[in-house]
Amino acid sequence: MAALPPVLDVDPFSDEFLADPYPDHERLRAAGPVVWLETYGIYASARHAEVQLALQDWRTFSSAAGVGLANIEKEASFFQPPSLLLEADPPLHQRTRPVLALALSPSALRDLRPKFELEAHALADRLVSRGTFDGVTDLAEVYPIRVFADALGLREEGREHLLPYAAFLFNAFGPRNPRFEATLRAGEAAREWVKRQCNRRALRPGGLGSRVFDAVNRGEVSEEEAAVLVRSLLSAGLDTTVYGLGNALFALATHPEAWAQLHAQPELARTAFEEALRFESAVQTFFRTTTAETDLGDVTLPAGAKILLFLGAANRDPRRWDEPDQFDIARKTSGHVAFGYGIHSCVGQAVARMEGEIVLKALAERIERLELAAPPVRCLNNTLRGLASLPLSVAPRRH
Ligand code: HEM
Repeated sequence: MAALPPVLDVDPFSDEFLADPYPDHERLRAAGPVVWLETYGIYASARHAEVQLALQDWRTFSSAAGVGLANIEKEASFFQPPSLLLEADPPLHQRTRPVLALALSPSALRDLRPKFELEAHALADRLVSRGTFDGVTDLAEVYPIRVFADALGLREEGREHLLPYAAFLFNAFGPRNPRFEATLRAGEAAREWVKRQCNRRALRPGGLGSRVFDAVNRGEVSEEEAAVLVRSLLSAGLDTTVYGLGNALFALATHPEAWAQLHAQPELARTAFEEALRFESAVQTFFRTTTAETDLGDVTLPAGAKILLFLGAANRDPRRWDEPDQFDIARKTSGHVAFGYGIHSCVGQAVARMEGEIVLKALAERIERLELAAPPVRCLNNTLRGLASLPLSVAPRRH
């Protein structure tokens, strides 16, 4: 028989929660498979099984009303028009997803790999020769902006708008709190710039962005739709990877045994990045909205209800993982939901994995010891988890 959900006063968008979400994640998971968060009047789930079930069942747990707190079918979205992918259900999603999947296909990635490697090696050489550097501002922010913005075919001028744009976008999935208001103001110029880049003429021919416009020529989407799809790449493809790389470096710098393992076997870079995504998920949360009354766990949710899915908490659910709070780069990580699950699972995950693997491998080949040079500085965001600064000191490999 369906039960009433436990009521919790946890505010998942408060500074305290975002600074260290893990104790509250445990409270949320322990309270039940589905809980009621009275601060916002929403359901939430922090357990792996229910998060995965909801992500899988797109018919009942819809994205079309927005994947943030606001119901964009009832109130205007800050992003007009809404995403044709992230904030869409089939049949629209079925038409638009293949366009980006093709632009980001394995063969497109194979072509990009040599350039991505060259840039990573050059950057790693420069940073290692300095002995100390900032893992976020000198590396995690620099590398994706260089390689991914180049791959997209974006012009150099104005790229400084990319991170403020993404910071605003990911804050906008939460409540209209001061954090959101601050990035709303800072992101105004960025939004204008991004809009101007999302058209055929602004993008370098042959780049990933211009390949999205090839779908117009094939009759799969309209010119306007192609522009909105390019916007998805600019929105979802940078901050996520920046935070993912920064979190991976932080985990490795604070787990010397893991770094020693990676230094001895740099080919573990791919699994190390994957474990870092599980351990400290860059995208912490996304919402869904129920299309009909439904049971999840032991709770009946009415139609039209918002439910907050804690991806980051699911990735540390002891019901699913052995010793979930241990960072173990040899762990089998398949089943983590850091890239989501089901029809909306990250369409750019192969790009993110390629960037993560290449950067960590380039560093592991060059650095014997990686340590914190000073405490890191956190950057709080309503959706993302990551750092603003990560001072590192490195001992280069002995030849
Ligand atoms: C470490 C880096 C990344 C993480 C952690 C991440 C995470 C995610 C997650 C959790 C989702 C699922 C959203 C949902 O279920 O509502 C998603 C979707 C998406 N991601 Fe990523 N992502 C990353 C990198 C990228 C990159 C590099 C790109 C572009 C090349 C990208 C483009 C997208 C797009 C367009 C979607 C929407 C897919 C859809 O709705 O069908 N992401 N990502």
